[in-house]
Amino acid sequence: MVLEMSWQTAWMRSKNNPLLFVTDLLGATPESWQAAALEAVGKHDRVSIRSGHGVGKTTLQAWLVLWFLLTRQNCKVPVAANSQDQLRDTIWPEIAKWHRQLPEALRTRIDVQAERIVVVEDPEGAFAVRRTASKENPEALQGFHAEHLLFLIDEASGILDVVFEVGLGALSTPGAKVVMAGNPTRTSGFFYDTHHSLRNRWHTMHVSCLDVPRAQGHIEDIRAKYGDSSNAWRVRVLGEFPTANDETVIPLELVLGAVGRNVSPLGYYPVWGVDVARFGDDRTALAKRQANKLLEPVRWWNSVDLMATAGRIKAEYDETHYDMRPSQSLSMRLGLVLAFTTAVRSWRHAGKGRQCRRGSRYARDLYAPS
Ligand SMILES: Nc1ncnc2c1ncn2[C@@H]1O[C@H](COP(=O)(O)OP(=O)(O)OP(=O)(O)O)[C@@H](O)[C@H]1O
Ligand SMILES: [Mg+2]
Repeated sequence: MVLEMSWQTAWMRSKNNPLLFVTDLLGATPESWQAAALEAVGKHDRVSIRSGHGVGKTTLQAWLVLWFLLTRQNCKVPVAANSQDQLRDTIWPEIAKWHRQLPEALRTRIDVQAERIVVVEDPEGAFAVRRTASKENPEALQGFHAEHLLFLIDEASGILDVVFEVGLGALSTPGAKVVMAGNPTRTSGFFYDTHHSLRNRWHTMHVSCLDVPRAQGHIEDIRAKYGDSSNAWRVRVLGEFPTANDETVIPLELVLGAVGRNVSPLGYYPVWGVDVARFGDDRTALAKRQANKLLEPVRWWNSVDLMATAGRIKAEYDETHYDMRPSQSLSMRLGLVLAFTTAVRSWRHAGKGRQCRRGSRYARDLYAPS
């Protein structure tokens, strides 16, 4: 006969057994990789997980917040990601959701607040707090002192090295645990190093969406859009770092970082950027932006000759409300832009990265509002 463990017994036994905490006190059913990760966190102080999208990394970190706060005294859990939105809109609701699953006697020990999760009887000495780790805030991982520290770092690939350089001392505090997880969007930086040159100092894990049923909703879309030999497939589905590509003008990590980022438009004139394809498989693209904000999705059309492209953009200009038009003298600029993009194209085809960078500088000059 198998006797069910009371929650009190499970609680007492879960100090070094986060898997038991998650199954018996939160009532969750971890994916098999999550179960392995929970066991790894029980045994290792430094765990780094790379994966495709949606496999349950943020959920794992939410579970760890509750586990750590409820199984130790004098404990602090800095939770870092590279954007406040990521912290507020993903991990915090996930913590609140699992907090509600706790047995009442444990649930009432924890107060989920807007910025902090505190242990009610010691709110100053035992808490989790969110920290945005960015260029503007490189001290995100610094300044925490407690007998027990757990650093949780979500979307770790997007966090700049300066944050790790500044916070490395804290991460290395004896007994501190660090768990970082992310989509492996770039082939440099501290997160990348933990899976390569620093691998012997970290317990690393790799999770592919193909092995996690709940993470497969997006994979056919990615296959259809980018193909399964693309970097998008590697990063978002397989959870592998992208392959370096000599012909890349804009690295994938910058594109992924920019998509969906919230920016407030600055008060400049709109600027239109045109990438002109002439003949062949390429497409001509028109991007309308106002300083740092894209005003509408990039439009594209199959290649037509230069004059037809110029005519099409002029027609677009005439139909656009004057508030939203790029500043003055479109026809002159258009001529310059077409000449410029044709020149860049030939540099790019010549495969000269340095010249492409020069091309980008000219682009800024040309497209800058006057
Ligand atoms: N073991 C689980 N039981 C129930 N729900 C889960 C479990 N693991 C993950 N989920 C749910 O699956 C969804 C995706 O999980 P999560 O956001 O943690 O994935 P992720 O790996 O962080 O995704 P992303 O790569 O987009 O950041 C969430 O709604 C989460 O609540
Ligand atoms: Mg996540």
